[in-house]
Amino acid sequence: DKGGYKHFMAKEIAEQPQVLQGALNHYINADATAMTLPQGLDFTAVNRLTMVACGTAFYACMVAKYWFEQLAGLPVEVDVASEFRYREPPVTDGTMAIFVSQSGETADTLAALRYMAGKAMQIVSVVNVPESSIARESDVALPILAGVEIGVASTKAFTCQLTTLATLVLHAARQRGRIDDAALADKLAALRALPGLMNTALGIEDRTVALSRDLAEARDILFLGRGAMYPLALEGALKLKEISYIHAEAYASGELKHGPIALVDPHVPVIVMAPRDSLFEKTVSNMQEVMARGGKVLLITDSQGAAEAGDGVWQVLLMPSIDPFLAPILYALPAQLLAYHTAIAKGTDVDQPRNLAKSVTVE
Ligand code: F6R
Repeated sequence: DKGGYKHFMAKEIAEQPQVLQGALNHYINADATAMTLPQGLDFTAVNRLTMVACGTAFYACMVAKYWFEQLAGLPVEVDVASEFRYREPPVTDGTMAIFVSQSGETADTLAALRYMAGKAMQIVSVVNVPESSIARESDVALPILAGVEIGVASTKAFTCQLTTLATLVLHAARQRGRIDDAALADKLAALRALPGLMNTALGIEDRTVALSRDLAEARDILFLGRGAMYPLALEGALKLKEISYIHAEAYASGELKHGPIALVDPHVPVIVMAPRDSLFEKTVSNMQEVMARGGKVLLITDSQGAAEAGDGVWQVLLMPSIDPFLAPILYALPAQLLAYHTAIAKGTDVDQPRNLAKSVTVE
């Protein structure tokens, strides 16, 4: 049931504030003072995390890497399952393995999990389907509570994966004595505020419809981001190519001058995802390099970022201000809306894009 929407993807984008609220209710108490995570999740003796997944779930792992390193002081290795499983990496003592999968049945991710069984201290999975193979074969399975996701392009599963991983990171930070009670309460309150901010962010939909008509004319589109926004740039590019079939690529903003800037010309829109955080100034200078070469920049930022971005930006999409920790969750929404409306403008089949299957159970 599409619930009155034209596509499952549109419904699944729109319902994110509610499903995320459900996930938050599951993991964090109402007054945002405590978390409830399954017994047996012990980070005190862990000295290294290995995170493995495919596609959008892999990008969720990439975001979590920044979080685990910064907030919990844990070194993290992330890899795509198809590479990890055949690389057969050595596993050192004190390694915890985390697998992220919406379906819980992705063949490569399951094979990577089986490789780690008996080698890692603990196998943790972050899944949407609790009775799936990946959940059943883990020591601890954390549900993301997104509800059934039907659109082939993952949307609400991504934001619920990130939300679940964010609580897991805070749990690890607390167990490892890396965060004091006041800072923890602050982060939990910020998580609790997310559904409201997402509702506000969804208010940009009309603007994305207009912008997408222009994007639909492009042959190539670049996405840029820094820090935890780099994986969001990757996710934005993946979403766009999956459903609109426009060639899109993402780069870490600082990599631009190491090659990709050669692609920039007035016909290549450059989508910059940059909340006003501690790295914003650096991103602005990358953006200026693009504009100096005639590139047209679509900047997704907050009001402070918009004020500091300077002249020459083609378009700005305004997000509400948010704790930089959680910006990757909020900024998934404009990425999804731009991909969706660009696909609509091109007339492609949004829910069943060509050549793609919802669940990849063969390698
Ligand atoms: C992209 C998308 C895919 C999946 C990937 C992993 O929109 O949906 O990239 O994220 O196939 O699937 P799961 O999460 O089921 O393991």
